[in-house]
Amino acid sequence: MSRPVTDEERRLAGLVRAHDRWRGRDVFNLLASENAVSPTARRYLASDLSGRYTLPVPATVDGETVDNSYTGTRYTDRIESLANAAAARLFRAKFATTRPLSGHLAALSALAPLLPPRSKLLAIPTDQGGYDGYAPGFVPALLGYSVRPLPANGPGHRVAADEAVAAIREERPNAVLLGQSFFLFPYPLREIAEAAHAVDALVLYDASHVLGLIAGGEFQDPLREGADVVFGSTHKSFPGPQGGLLVTDRADLFGQIDPALVWRVFDNAHWNRIAGLAQTLLELERVGPEYARTVVANARALGRALSDRQVPLVAEADGFTRSHQLHLDRPRLRAETGVGAGALARRLERQRLLIDLVGRIGTAEVARWGLTPDDMPRLAELIVRGGVRRERVGPEVLAWRRTFRTLRFA
Ligand SMILES: Cc1ncc(COP(=O)(O)O)c(C=O)c1O
Repeated sequence: MSRPVTDEERRLAGLVRAHDRWRGRDVFNLLASENAVSPTARRYLASDLSGRYTLPVPATVDGETVDNSYTGTRYTDRIESLANAAAARLFRAKFATTRPLSGHLAALSALAPLLPPRSKLLAIPTDQGGYDGYAPGFVPALLGYSVRPLPANGPGHRVAADEAVAAIREERPNAVLLGQSFFLFPYPLREIAEAAHAVDALVLYDASHVLGLIAGGEFQDPLREGADVVFGSTHKSFPGPQGGLLVTDRADLFGQIDPALVWRVFDNAHWNRIAGLAQTLLELERVGPEYARTVVANARALGRALSDRQVPLVAEADGFTRSHQLHLDRPRLRAETGVGAGALARRLERQRLLIDLVGRIGTAEVARWGLTPDDMPRLAELIVRGGVRRERVGPEVLAWRRTFRTLRFA
């Protein structure tokens, strides 16, 4: 790497180095929305691909038809084909695209071509764990849709089959948009899909949070259970570079989605990201089931260990979770310990333990660093000592963290 020249360049280099050390070696990351990217995928992210274009879309130039607007793309196009084929194999889908630049844009990639303005969506409200992007003022407003609530009233924002079916029959939406930011339990998808298809509604499954678990066969299998299109972020429980992907078995839907990506949702699809994503897809083809099993087993074990130490969590009667997330029971946390979820997260951050400020604890990244269910009582103890009792556990966390040197499942 060339040496930084100016003071600002040196400052920048120092900040990036410090970030990498802090987030890569000095903390346990329990943020449910994040993961650690494999070393090979990181190498591809920094490859020459990061500055290149390819646009393998036929165009007419002065009466001549060309198959790409660029030259020099012989490897780029093969990397994309390899990535799409790997995604199709891993999710056992007939069609896949790795082009969406993020989970949110993967959603737009499905919604915009499939549903005309004035369509009605059924989506889980944000106060029941739904994604803010699907709230009335956001994506639905952008695309001219109305949105009605799909209830997720159960413990841990769980969707009950009878309530979902009743809402679908009453509202007769154009699409049921599943997916949550607070996502603990699989959906009763067969019942939802049967009711939705009976009123000609599409079932769109935003798997952003649980994509890595679905890849490992651990959560639910949306395409087999009735979802028409599955899409999501590739960097939450799925341990890839930040980005999105989309899979479906339906040729009619993919025939509308795929040609609409370029020049509508985005132009350049970031080929270094796609190479890194392809590597992660191939890694999960090898080790996905063991990875996903470990993540969920860790979450359930950490739930038990925290609850045994009087940290209130939701859905205890259901084993806390079936995903990579645990949810603090925020009202009880405040009432029983005198601290809110945000303050707890800030205290823990100072002790090198990262959880988010809205009450989610995630176990995907720590599984990648080698923690197993046997480690969860010790982790829970550190969370309680550092977050609730305000002890200075940072040095102990650092010493323990430094014993995990190699990224697993990579
Ligand atoms: C359910 C859900 N969908 C979509 C997104 C957006 O993902 P991205 O940040 O990859 O655009 C999120 C982000 O947290 C999410 O929770």
